[in-house]
Amino acid sequence: MKNYLKENWYILLNQWWRGEIRTKQTPEGKIARKIPINIDKKGALIRESFLLKKMQWKLDFIPELLETGDGRFEYKFIEWKTLKEHKILDKNIFTQLVEIAYQLDKLWIFHGEINRPTGNVIINSEWKIFLIDYERWKLLKEWDSKNLRMIGQFLASQKLFDIKDFVIFIKNNPSSQDLKDYLLKNVI
Ligand SMILES: Nc1ncnc2c1ncn2[C@@H]1O[C@H](COP(=O)(O)OP(=O)(O)O)[C@@H](O)[C@H]1O
Ligand SMILES: [Mg+2]
Repeated sequence: MKNYLKENWYILLNQWWRGEIRTKQTPEGKIARKIPINIDKKGALIRESFLLKKMQWKLDFIPELLETGDGRFEYKFIEWKTLKEHKILDKNIFTQLVEIAYQLDKLWIFHGEINRPTGNVIINSEWKIFLIDYERWKLLKEWDSKNLRMIGQFLASQKLFDIKDFVIFIKNNPSSQDLKDYLLKNVI
């Protein structure tokens, strides 16, 4: 079996049971490569790169995809830190997270792991948020504000507001354009 992990010219950043992330400095900036551990594990990464490719022109919170092939893909490395490292959920980050969840809901795309976002939310040096890790994404069969509900549960677990208000609101207003304003006025 081909060993996908013998790519030592990339620096190892992260390893998990299905594969690893390596990074590399290029003249155009740092890039990240997501690599499956072996051929059996490449399905999820093919699905992830499919979504990134289809959506990168629509969604400005996913890193730019540079190359794909054989389960691996390369995309831009977002410099700075994850929410896990940052630890502070201020109004700016809150707003961007809600907006991201809402944009995915509008496309009927469920992120899959947006309830545990800390490692998958990256903040760049200009305080812009990127959401990564679409291995478990799903196209929903009907409108469902699932991403918003889940990000709401996460935000509620951070004790920012009462989750009940958030859930009632998004159930009653699934396509409201004013959602962000409402949340900012009433929830924080
Ligand atoms: N494009 C990227 N820019 C910056 N960091 C990244 C990027 N892609 C992945 N990472 C880092 O690697 C970690 C794991 O990547 P992720 O896609 O979430 O895989 P996993 O399935 O292991 O959670 C992230 O938490 C993040 O710290
Ligand atoms: Mg992750």
